Amino acid sequence: MKGAFSIALASAITGVFALPSPTENGPITARAAAACSTPVRLSGNPFSGRKIHANAFYASEVSSAAAQMTDSAMASAALKVADVGTFMWLDKRDKIPILEPTLKDIECGEIGAFVIYDLPGRDCAAKASNGELAVGELNIYKSEYIDPIVDIFKKYPNTAVALVIEPDSLPNLVTNIDLQSCKDSASGYRDGVAYALKQLNLPNIAMYIDAGHGGWLGWNDNLKPGAKVLADAYKAAGSPKAVRGVSTNVAGWNAWDMVPGEFADRSDAQWNKAQNEKKYVELFSPQLRSAGMPGQAIVDTGRNAVQGLREEWGHWCNVDGAGFGVRPTTDTGSSLVDAFVWIKPGGESDGTSDSSADRYDSFCGHSDAYKPSPEAGEWHQEYFEMLLRNADPQF
Ligand code: GLC
Repeated sequence: MKGAFSIALASAITGVFALPSPTENGPITARAAAACSTPVRLSGNPFSGRKIHANAFYASEVSSAAAQMTDSAMASAALKVADVGTFMWLDKRDKIPILEPTLKDIECGEIGAFVIYDLPGRDCAAKASNGELAVGELNIYKSEYIDPIVDIFKKYPNTAVALVIEPDSLPNLVTNIDLQSCKDSASGYRDGVAYALKQLNLPNIAMYIDAGHGGWLGWNDNLKPGAKVLADAYKAAGSPKAVRGVSTNVAGWNAWDMVPGEFADRSDAQWNKAQNEKKYVELFSPQLRSAGMPGQAIVDTGRNAVQGLREEWGHWCNVDGAGFGVRPTTDTGSSLVDAFVWIKPGGESDGTSDSSADRYDSFCGHSDAYKPSPEAGEWHQEYFEMLLRNADPQF
């Protein structure tokens, strides 16, 4: 089953790349993507002067979505989403084959963006994104996931790359360590993240370790332990030069600088000064630095255009009423934030609302979650249309 899927996926991808789909500059195949002629050596903000590559995988999801729309104005707005540079999730070994064709497609002046996301016992505090590797399969993570990815990156030293490292994993070790599943996952997360950081430490790569969001590690009591767990992994990896700092709000909903903040009127708000992502970064970054790791950040603004939708800060699944947020930019107004980026590909589901499914998580059944919704990572047409309608700025 798995083999068949992988071949199907690989040929679908080949199809995508061979497809002479017309763009403003002519067919994709004629674009003759030219990487830089000399090795890329990143220093400083890797996004500055570089456009995030709009990968063909997301572009093909978006163009098939547009093809299903009967409203032609909406369809043409939808197609513009395909031009937005987003992160590509390498969320299982079967996705590795899409990495190399994507790297080939990246031009000098662009930066490729990928998410490393396949730890053993993945998503230990929830069910929707449980992964393919079981607790204890760290050797498989290393030899069949990280190592092949590293081998591919090494073939493209002239291409700039940004990586988000393992969303939610280390934050779960701070706040959800009482759960047996997170206890079981803990050492694999620590060692797996350290291994990934060490092996992926290449001159053309910039890495951001995931740090959850303001409503997670932003609580007064979580800031220090959060910074410590990240910095420990960084140091265990030998303090790799390629680590630039952290990613926040990945697949999240928090506003960048809303004041006083969406949940500031709650009785527990006194315990959290990170009521928006800007505040979170300002509080967390110094903690990271004093724990001994770099404290720059990138913030996911892919789906945070609309506030006031969640019943609780912790609700994370397909929030109903959401819209595409600020497009990727280095114009963040904060010296701590390298870029606003789109990490979660808008239109891919966060989790199924089918309560009989194996990976059903009750968060996807809350009244603020869009229903029906397909399995995590699968295309969600109605949700995509909603993000588009509610986009701010509009497309
Ligand atoms: C979720 C899914 C994963 C997908 C990602 C991006 O985390 O579990 O499979 O790649 O979202 O949509």
